[in-house]
Amino acid sequence: AYVVTEACIKCKYMDCVEVCPVDCFYEGENMVVINPSECIDCGVCEPECPAEAILPDTEGGLDKWMELNATLSATWPNITMKGATPEDADSHKGEEGKFDKYFS
Ligand code: SF4
Ligand code: F3S
Repeated sequence: AYVVTEACIKCKYMDCVEVCPVDCFYEGENMVVINPSECIDCGVCEPECPAEAILPDTEGGLDKWMELNATLSATWPNITMKGATPEDADSHKGEEGKFDKYFS
C-alpha cells in the first residue's frame, strides 16, 4: 500500500483524494491517511501531492506511518473530493518536526 507521511500535516492539499480510483483516503483535522487494506497500489496519488507526502510502503523507515495510516483510517471519515486547503498550507510545506508540533 501507499502511505501518507508527516509532510501532509498542516498542508492537506487533497489533490491525492481526487485521483484515487478506490476512494481509500480518510480525513483528519490536520492530514489525511490511506486505508492500507483498500489501497490497490496503483501509485497514481504519489506524484499528485505538492508536499511529496505520499510514499510506497516498500520504502524503508515508514513503520510509524504505516501503523498510523492503518489505525487512523479505521476511525476517520472517508474523503473522496478535494475540500478547502488550509490558507497557510504553503508555509508548512517542507517544515520539520510537524508530527511533534501539531499532531495529537
Ligand atoms: Fe489510491 Fe492508488 Fe494512492 Fe492507493 S496508490 S491510495 S489506490 S491512488
Ligand atoms: Fe496531504 Fe498531499 Fe494529499 S499534502 S492531503 S497527501 S495531496
